[in-house]
Amino acid sequence: MTTIFTSDTVGAHPSVRHRQLKAWVAEIATLTQPDRIYWADGSQDEYDRICAEMVATGTLIRLNPAKRPNSYLAWSDPSDVARVEDRTFVCSASRLDAGPTNNWIDPEQMRVTLNELFSGCMRGRTLYVIAFSMGPLGSAISHIGVEITDSPYVLANMRIMTRMGSAALDALGSDGRFVPCVHSVGAPLESGAKDSCWPCNSAQKYIVQFPETREIWSFGSGYGGNALLGKKCFALRIASTMARDEGWLAEHMLILGVESPEGEKTYVAAAFPSACGKTNLAMLIPPRIFAGWRVTTVGDDIAWIKPGEDGRLYAINPEAGFFGVAPGTSETTNPNAMATLKANVIFTNVALTDDGDVWWEGLTPTAPEHLIDWTGQEWTPEIGARMNRKAAHPNSRFTAPAAQCPSIDPCWEDPVGVPISAFIFGGRRADTVPLIVESRHWNGGVYLASTLGSETTAAAQGQQGVVRRDPFAMLPFCGYHMGDYFKHWLQVGKDLNPKPLIYCVNWFRRDESGQFMWPGFGDNMRILKWIVDRVRGRVGAKETPLGLAPTYEDIEWDGCAITAERFARLTRVDRLEWQRELELQAKWFEELGQRVPLALVLNHDSLETRITDAMA
Ligand code: GTP
Ligand code: SPV
Ligand code: MN
Repeated sequence: MTTIFTSDTVGAHPSVRHRQLKAWVAEIATLTQPDRIYWADGSQDEYDRICAEMVATGTLIRLNPAKRPNSYLAWSDPSDVARVEDRTFVCSASRLDAGPTNNWIDPEQMRVTLNELFSGCMRGRTLYVIAFSMGPLGSAISHIGVEITDSPYVLANMRIMTRMGSAALDALGSDGRFVPCVHSVGAPLESGAKDSCWPCNSAQKYIVQFPETREIWSFGSGYGGNALLGKKCFALRIASTMARDEGWLAEHMLILGVESPEGEKTYVAAAFPSACGKTNLAMLIPPRIFAGWRVTTVGDDIAWIKPGEDGRLYAINPEAGFFGVAPGTSETTNPNAMATLKANVIFTNVALTDDGDVWWEGLTPTAPEHLIDWTGQEWTPEIGARMNRKAAHPNSRFTAPAAQCPSIDPCWEDPVGVPISAFIFGGRRADTVPLIVESRHWNGGVYLASTLGSETTAAAQGQQGVVRRDPFAMLPFCGYHMGDYFKHWLQVGKDLNPKPLIYCVNWFRRDESGQFMWPGFGDNMRILKWIVDRVRGRVGAKETPLGLAPTYEDIEWDGCAITAERFARLTRVDRLEWQRELELQAKWFEELGQRVPLALVLNHDSLETRITDAMA
């Protein structure tokens, strides 16, 4: 028997006055047939209760409160560990508008598929209604979404990642606009059946965006960007289309501030593909030689950037928490992240220590003698080596409140945003791409960003370590045609004054033995400082075929072992490598087709000429 829910039976608190919202919840409940409907208020009590319930059902392990107060560990199903790009769809009315980089299915056909998938999919479960704000509550730049989900894990994570619950419902009022987001793990629970600790659907996954109607439907996965719909689905795929229509930018970028000893503040935004260094750069602690300099964190993953009346760009972080990569995070590489993780954290897919705390590869130089790994099995360094098994999944993550970060910027919740003076784009490239280059002008910078290449990482399901084009680090996140997106960037740049400078960096160049040539992490400050000095007109640069670059003398080297010879190798632009790279870039533009702006094609050609001439 199918229960018909109505706006009177969805059980919303009397203070929920939004009739359209209640009607939509009733409609989804009638489709998905949950046992219960629960409207989240976002309180600490509610969070504690939901987490306690998940501890009781085995979804969460409560960590040792003496080591990690109010913190939990979740282990996902081994088939559900990362974003699923091949199951992610942009269903615009016209296939052309989604472009060749997005999976497209006709929206009408997709609706038929979704209707079948979601029919009765929440049977035996609770339907949670999560109203959330991307951006500070009540601010003019924020946007509200409502996620319906049958996953309490999603609810708990959304409380850390967004401003959610009663306050967001209040902000919606009786007729506010919201982006409807429907999520199900796709695993109905028959009565009497025992639930699994991480319900999901290993056969069917669909992460669907309808850009025209600004709707999100996600089925079958409970993990990260597949399920926390405020993040990649809303704040990037849907928001990028809103941004195109309204003249702003929604980007896969961190935002940081660099503060000089005199208190001068310079903000930059930086795009790196998934698991390529945003969180780490956003929380950088400068080496000792930079006494009095400080890096502050506004955001670590997503930036919404708008032109201001004064001709500058202003950026906000729409999120309220960090969903960061655990492996590699340590007191040496990222002490600010470690301090952020002291309490109130949800860890997913890291290992459990014998004293009820967490461990992951890179946390300490040597692994503990005994662990339970992310699959729930016994793990010792010997077992790990013999079975070639990592204790933590490479895409294991922490969910932590941004407010707990010691480097959080005082303006991180300012609705006006922070003024952006420079953009940095960086990929993970073992060769070819130099440590740092400055674009000669805006269009040249857009070219560098639009042709960005990077090795694939564990953040997405699929092959790892293969170089692919990841323009603006937005390949999996742009909600419309990539050629139109480039055009939008060129357009936005036209009216800016002064225009932010644009840089391309590569922290990941390797030597013949496969070792990283650049120390990275805190030492990235040496490059960041040069960028700030360039913005302020305090330091020179030399011409290279790719753009402008620092000389060895332009960089502060005190406390760092990089010699002039090594720096030359790090910044080298090799003619043969670049001829090959330019061929790949030309091929990339061909794949994108007619909508690639002419200005970028011309940029490719002049770059080709410069490379050939300069190196003849
Ligand atoms: P998403 O959350 O997936 O968007 O990733 P992100 O861009 O925030 O990446 P993150 O900063 O979490 O870094 C991912 C991995 O790269 C971690 O294992 C880091 O330790 C490592 N990493 C970050 N910065 C550097 C660096 O400067 N050099 C080297 N060698 N590794 C780095
Ligand atoms: C990324 O993959 O870029 C992430 C993690 O930041 S997720 O939220 O899963 O998209
Ligand atoms: Mn990301």
